[in-house]
Amino acid sequence: MSERARTIDLTTAVERAFLIGLDDPSDSRWPVGRSLAELAALAETAGATVVGRASQRRPSPDPVWYFGKGRAAELLDEKVASDFNLLIVDDELAPNQQRSLEKLLDCKVLDRSALIIDIFGRHAKTKEGRLQVELAALEYHLPRLTRMWTHLSRTGGGIGTRGPGESQLETDRRLIRDKIKKVRAELADVERHRATAARKRDRNHVASVALVGYTNAGKSTLLNALADADLYVADMLFATLDPTSRQVTLPSGREVVVTDTVGFINKLPHDLVDAFRATLEEVKRADLLLEVVDAADLDFVGQQAAVQSVLDELGAGDKPRITVFNKIDLLPADGGAPPASETTAFVSAMTGEGLDLLRERIAEALRGTMVAVDAVVPYELGELVARARSSGDVEQNYEETGVRVSGHLPPAIASELTAAGRNGRRRSASSRQA
Ligand code: GTP
Repeated sequence: MSERARTIDLTTAVERAFLIGLDDPSDSRWPVGRSLAELAALAETAGATVVGRASQRRPSPDPVWYFGKGRAAELLDEKVASDFNLLIVDDELAPNQQRSLEKLLDCKVLDRSALIIDIFGRHAKTKEGRLQVELAALEYHLPRLTRMWTHLSRTGGGIGTRGPGESQLETDRRLIRDKIKKVRAELADVERHRATAARKRDRNHVASVALVGYTNAGKSTLLNALADADLYVADMLFATLDPTSRQVTLPSGREVVVTDTVGFINKLPHDLVDAFRATLEEVKRADLLLEVVDAADLDFVGQQAAVQSVLDELGAGDKPRITVFNKIDLLPADGGAPPASETTAFVSAMTGEGLDLLRERIAEALRGTMVAVDAVVPYELGELVARARSSGDVEQNYEETGVRVSGHLPPAIASELTAAGRNGRRRSASSRQA
C-alpha cells in the first residue's frame, strides 16, 4: 500500500468532530461555553477528535436547521477549513433537523442524546444496565430509522450506531418494536427481582441509601470503598442483590443497603431517564441520598445544579441528603475545599480518607428517621433482639427477665419490640402472682 493511501485510511478511521450549540441569553446557569466544553469531553470519551466548535446566540433552535439558515450554511466553510466528518449538536435534534444538516454537510450528524446513550452503552456493567441502555438506544433510534439507513450505508458505523446494532437497523421498524418488547420483558424480570429484594429489606427494616451524582463523580468507587470491609457480611445476607446494591455496616453495627444509580448529566436524554426508571425508583424509595460531588471539578456547582434538577424531576429533591465531596486527594493542601456543614462530608473514595466520618454522618442522618425505644425483651425472643441490633442504633443489657434494648429504631421494629416488652412484663407479673 502506498504511503498516501495509508494516510487516507488512517484519517477516515478517526471521527473528526465539529461541535455546535445555542447560546441562550436567558440561561446564565449553564452557558454555552461550559456546555460545549462538556460535549467535547463526551465526544473524546467516545473516541472522536474534536477539531472545532461554534455557537449561535438564539433562544431556541430553528425547526429545520437548528442554527439559523444562514449560519448553518456557513458550517460548509468550517467543514472545508477543519475537515470534520462528524457534526455533534449540543441538544436533542428532531429527525428532520438531523436530516437537513446531514444533507447540507454531507456527513454524519449526531446529537447530545445519541452521544450520551453511546457512552452509557460502553460503561454499562450490569445486566440491568446493559438492558436499560439497549432500550434507550432502541427508543431513540426508532423514529430516526430512515436516517440511520442512509447514513449507515454511507459511513458504516462509528459513534452513535451502538446499541441496537447494525443488523436490527438494517431490518424494519416492526423488528425494532419487537426487540423493544423483548427488552422490556427482560427488564421487567430484573425489576421484579429488584422489588423482591426491596420488600425483603423492608421486612428486615434495612434502611436504604441511594448514591446520586453527576457522571464521573466517583459513585461506583465510593460504593466499593464503603462496602469492601463488609464484603463477607454482604455475601452472607444479600448475595442475590443486584451488584449495584451493596450492604454497608455503620459504626453502631447497623446495616444499610447502598445502591448506585445512573450518573446524571446535563440534558440527560429522556429515553435514558425512562429506561433507567427502575434504578431511579431506588432513589425515590431511599431513606437517605448521598449526593456525590467531584470536589476537584472546577464546575462542581454547575453539576450540582444539574443533579438537583434531575432529582426534582423524580420528585426526590427534598429527601434527606448528605453532600459527599469526593476526590479531596486532588485538592490543594491549602484549601480549595467547599464549605463544610452538618450535612456534608469530605472523602477520597480512592484513598479511603474521610470514610469513617461519612459512616457516622450516615448513621446520624438515619437516626432522624427513627424513634426512641427502651424495652426489656424476654430471652426467648433473641431473634427479635438480633434484628433490632442490625436495623438501628441500640444498646443491649442483660437483666433478670430479659434483654434491655434501648436506643433508636425504625418505627415498625420499635413497636414490635415495645409490644414484646409489654407481654414479657405481663407474663412475669402473672408468674409472680401464681
Ligand atoms: P458514572 O458511572 O459515569 O456515573 O461514574 P461514577 O460516578 O460511578 O464514577 P467512578 O466511580 O466510575 O469514578 C470516575 C473516575 O474517578 C474513575 O477514574 C475513578 O478512579 C476516579 N475517582 C473516584 N474517586 C476518586 C477519588 O477519591 N480520588 C481520585 N483521585 N479519583 C477518584
